[in-house]
Amino acid sequence: MTNHARDIHFTLNGRPVSARVESHLDLVDLLRRLNLFGARESCGQGLCGCCTVLVDGVAVSGCLTLAQLVDGKAVATVEGLDASGALSPVQQAFIDEGAFQCGFCTPGFVLMAHQLLRENPDPDDGEIRDYLAGNLCRCAAYPEIIRAVKTAARRMRETQPA
Ligand code: FES
Ligand code: FES
Repeated sequence: MTNHARDIHFTLNGRPVSARVESHLDLVDLLRRLNLFGARESCGQGLCGCCTVLVDGVAVSGCLTLAQLVDGKAVATVEGLDASGALSPVQQAFIDEGAFQCGFCTPGFVLMAHQLLRENPDPDDGEIRDYLAGNLCRCAAYPEIIRAVKTAARRMRETQPA
């Protein structure tokens, strides 16, 4: 049986990467081969948001995205949120507000919260709920997650240059 493997080239958190990729491989599994474990596969059906990855700035389900399709694109994961290796304001706020229990869903929430705050620096509770509706938390840490997003938003606004 032929697996139709081919070489792809893309940027991963800003760095150029090349990989030989089989046609059936999904993006989450490719990231794991590259030692990035932030995006997690849970439902495997595009329903839970645990596998969220940004491709050319757009959030996709890594479990439903064939790895070969990111050829030539820019892929960003939770590991690349701050190039310095420091925690991003959203990550710090999730810790400060206790916005997780098991933490399995957290990378997906954090990535989507970043997207939200890029588009809307001062979201209200309803806007946060709507934007994060595609992310499920089985530990039901939703109140703390909403609080964390608001805390991160406030801190980011306060530190923005006038
Ligand atoms: S594992 Fe991809 S959406 Fe749930
Ligand atoms: S913290 Fe456990 S699934 Fe969200």
